[in-house]
Amino acid sequence: MCGIIGYCGHRPAVSVLVEGLRRLEYRGYDSAGVAFLQHNGLEVVRAAGKLHALEEKLAELNVYQATSGIGHTRWATHGLPTERNAHPHCDPERRLALIHNGIFENYQELRDELAAEGAQFLSETDTEVFTHLLARELKKEKSFKKAFSSALSRVEGAYALVVVSLDHPGTLFAARKSSPLVMGVGEGENFLASDIPAFLPYTRDVVFLEDGEMVQIDAHSWSVFDVATLAPVSKKTTHISWDLQAAEKGGYKHFMLKEIFEQPRVISDCMTGRVDASTKKVLLPELDDIPVPENLFIVACGTSFHAGLWGMYLLESWSKIPTRVEIASEFRYRNPILHKGDAVLVISQSGETADTLAAIRLARECGAYVIGLCNVVGSSIARESDCVVYTQAGPEISVASTKAMCSQLVALTLVALSYAEKKGTLDEKERQQLLQSLAEIPNRLENALPSMRTYAQMLARMYSEARSFMFLGRGLSYPLALEGALKLKEISYIHAEGHAAGEMKHGPIALIDPKFPTFALAPCDELYPKVKSNLVEVQARGGKIIALTHQGSDLVVDNAWEIPSTKGPLDTFFMLPALQLFAYEMADYLGKDVDQPRNLAKSVTVE
Ligand code: F6R
Repeated sequence: MCGIIGYCGHRPAVSVLVEGLRRLEYRGYDSAGVAFLQHNGLEVVRAAGKLHALEEKLAELNVYQATSGIGHTRWATHGLPTERNAHPHCDPERRLALIHNGIFENYQELRDELAAEGAQFLSETDTEVFTHLLARELKKEKSFKKAFSSALSRVEGAYALVVVSLDHPGTLFAARKSSPLVMGVGEGENFLASDIPAFLPYTRDVVFLEDGEMVQIDAHSWSVFDVATLAPVSKKTTHISWDLQAAEKGGYKHFMLKEIFEQPRVISDCMTGRVDASTKKVLLPELDDIPVPENLFIVACGTSFHAGLWGMYLLESWSKIPTRVEIASEFRYRNPILHKGDAVLVISQSGETADTLAAIRLARECGAYVIGLCNVVGSSIARESDCVVYTQAGPEISVASTKAMCSQLVALTLVALSYAEKKGTLDEKERQQLLQSLAEIPNRLENALPSMRTYAQMLARMYSEARSFMFLGRGLSYPLALEGALKLKEISYIHAEGHAAGEMKHGPIALIDPKFPTFALAPCDELYPKVKSNLVEVQARGGKIIALTHQGSDLVVDNAWEIPSTKGPLDTFFMLPALQLFAYEMADYLGKDVDQPRNLAKSVTVE
């Protein structure tokens, strides 16, 4: 987790760094800091808390002379989120400062080794250990790159590191392994960052760095080397088509709201170029690189896991592929039985989730094919999969995932239809109708979203006193019930549980009382009568009910929230935003920090 940025150029570096950190705050926000060279000295300014605390400190200093430096926004892994644990960290002689995203797993062993040599540590972090290690190597070895390389050969774990050194003014050194790091190439200025939005106001030309690469930048040049051999590595620059506007709020109060309202466009973008206009066949050439799976494992975390559960229903019913869905952190440690011809489909918005990445590596070791379903282009998961279906949702800034899940569901729909086409397992007319209905959703959803928001606002006011919520759904609505509960708890901190409606009477029903409302997903599909009976059971215990349903339903509940309907499983594309809006309005009404909920980070690069 953590966001890092490095800058070398012709502008006041500290302003560039702080602005970059603001766009990276979604990666962590419990403390922040910058380091830069000015008046022949190394300056380090750090503050606990959000970025404005750092800005207040910087405002008292004259920092305008520096034209290169590094910045960090932290999500604590080792050590409390205090100022002394905040990055950058310096070596004992304060000749260098560095920022780190990742974890050095053998840091305790290294710390003991260095302490035995007399090293004294000022923080509890794993990162500070590396500053000592690098300083020690620099005493033996004049070449910075060689010293950096041999210090890196001692650490185990994940890192994206950027170093500024008094001995190399105007130059930054960086390296990555299993944590994201991209380079922005500008005119008379170059950037390093965890993610592209950090430098998007200045350049859209990007170099994606790979694991095991080291990079050296100054204002006018950049070069990449193999971290072990220091042999030069040739790299290509990629021009990014999305602009800063896409990474900013665009007039909405929060990124989350903006991202919910972007979903009509996200659905069209994900379909663009993927349905042949004349034959009405799904075009996913990415999948042609591997055989149609005999068995499929879907592996993911959090919201992406919920998308996977939803996808399982389509892959089994349309494509007749036996599918099981697993949480990545469980899958990776349980010796799963994978056979030749099996495939693992991993789903990840960020493409950097540590457990999901580990699941890919395990699957590949077992000889299974890996299909990545990913949003972030060039991310680790995308690079390590045998083939990648990009979900094309654009940058998702709010910590709570919304539009990314929507795009994952579209991509899963297309994957299931594509396999069904190849296997001939779905009636042709049915398949065409599904594609037609999917294509109509963006317009219909765009029209429906404003009134859905109004309804969600009304519900938020009515139910704002509730301290607990039960979410219930059956069939395809079951993963949505899980997602509705997750969204509500993560941004409003209201306790919420998601359950399969049929499981209610096996335990959860004991919780129901007049102060414990239920949010039911009750679309008018073949399971509607079953859900209806479950709701009667809730009412018999005095529980209040909000039911997301369709026109024509005969539910008698406290709030029957009618939303547009479409063909079968695709109803999800209206239900999902309703759940998201409910969670959003509740959190906003209660005055919570919607885009940056406590204890969470956007990209979970630690296990
Ligand atoms: C919840 C949320 C998380 C992520 C999870 C996986 O709103 O965003 O549960 O879905 O951390 O992240 P990715 O999809 O980046 O692998």
